[in-house]
Amino acid sequence: MKSILIIDDDALIRKTLSAHLARQGFDVQTAEDGESGLRMHGEMSPDLVLLDIRLPDTDGLDVLRRIREKAGRATVVMMTAYDDMKTTVEAIKLGAFEYLVKPLDYVALDLTVATAFQVRALEEKISYLVEEKQKEYTIDAIVGRSAPMRSVFKLIGSVANTRTNVLIQGESGTGKELVAKAIHYNSPYRDEPFIVINCSAIQDTLLESELFGHVKGAFTDAVCETKGKFEIAGRGTLFLDEVGDVSPNLQSKLLRVIETRDFMKVGGERVLKTEARIIAATNQNLRALIEAGKFREDLYYRLKVVEINLPALRDRREDIPGLVSYLLEKINRELRKTVRKVPPDVMKILAETPWRGNVRELENALIRAVILAKGDVVLKENLPLESEERKPFARELVSLEEVEKDYIQHVLAAVKGSKTRASQILKISRPTLDKKIKDFSLEV
Ligand SMILES: Nc1ncnc2c1ncn2[C@@H]1O[C@H](COP(=O)(O)OP(=O)(O)OP(=O)(O)O)[C@@H](O)[C@H]1O
Ligand SMILES: [Mg+2]
Repeated sequence: MKSILIIDDDALIRKTLSAHLARQGFDVQTAEDGESGLRMHGEMSPDLVLLDIRLPDTDGLDVLRRIREKAGRATVVMMTAYDDMKTTVEAIKLGAFEYLVKPLDYVALDLTVATAFQVRALEEKISYLVEEKQKEYTIDAIVGRSAPMRSVFKLIGSVANTRTNVLIQGESGTGKELVAKAIHYNSPYRDEPFIVINCSAIQDTLLESELFGHVKGAFTDAVCETKGKFEIAGRGTLFLDEVGDVSPNLQSKLLRVIETRDFMKVGGERVLKTEARIIAATNQNLRALIEAGKFREDLYYRLKVVEINLPALRDRREDIPGLVSYLLEKINRELRKTVRKVPPDVMKILAETPWRGNVRELENALIRAVILAKGDVVLKENLPLESEERKPFARELVSLEEVEKDYIQHVLAAVKGSKTRASQILKISRPTLDKKIKDFSLEV
């Protein structure tokens, strides 16, 4: 039940107001002066205070100030006579939620009380979410005790307080975005925006306007002026994901903004400045792209002032048990389940799987196992691992031919029997594939 404290020296108001509010199901207490009001506030910590500005012993503003000092988020509604308007303005400045004019209009009163509770609930929700978000990206949220992960943590710690550009490299699903967020949320700029832009998902011309914004009429669909991510990020972080996919034309524009901090909107003439820190990520080998003439070397050096290389999960298998229990906790929390037990044979399979999709693939496998679990145990049969995929690594040592046969079968299943796709993936000709299918008696 929500509680309300009324502090007013007028006995009639205390009586009628508390009767009115009690009828609506509130727990109402009253106090006749400032001192007893403050004492009662300490005892009951009410959800809402209705406070008269004129009190016999002290000024209502003083009571308001003291309540707000003790309980910063307290919701206080002032009750005031017409001639108290100046004080009312003062009260709002001190953090009062609203003021009601006496004699009280009960319709306005009910509306104010209802709104105050709604706003309070929203404020609580928002502060909970902000805390949760920050917690999610503390370094504790990145699991790993292996040597390569320990050096990643050290790097995060040492770059978090700087504004240097960081380049994060690693296979898909190794936690590049997680690391970028950890840097941002551990930096002094954690309350500024963290803006993600996926450079591979957007077509070149659109990407330019996403990054820099555009002015009205810059191109056919530019019906109004927009801000780009460099501007929206403010003094926060701009995370350029899949930076290896940026076109040569945009690479030179990126280089310019990184070097000079200046940029212009598409179609614009005014030079704008960016203050954002840039963290770039890629799962491609940028060195190889440079050698192939697809990525500018000068941009590469600008981006990788500090370089963080995330190890593939299969190269740090000792982290798998820790990750499994961390991820299970997270998944159980989200799905409101309690699947926590992992039998030794299941853990062995998890530890030996190649995890080409790294932590993301492990996480997806566990989500599935949790959803399908009947009791509180992760079962072998609920792991979405093709036995074919597991065999070469998990079972006793076998011949190359056997691995080849299993793998071709696996690829054929993955591409739903399309021999053209399979031969492209396997990088063998169609006739060679046909011959192998025949020799190994594979099912298509
Ligand atoms: N060390 C880790 N500890 C805990 N969770 C992790 C870790 N690494 C990755 N994850 C989780 O795995 C998932 C994938 O991570 P993330 O999105 O950061 O990977 P990525 O490298 O950006 O992948 P992609 O290249 O596919 O975009 C996320 O849910 C993330 O929280
Ligand atoms: Mg990513």
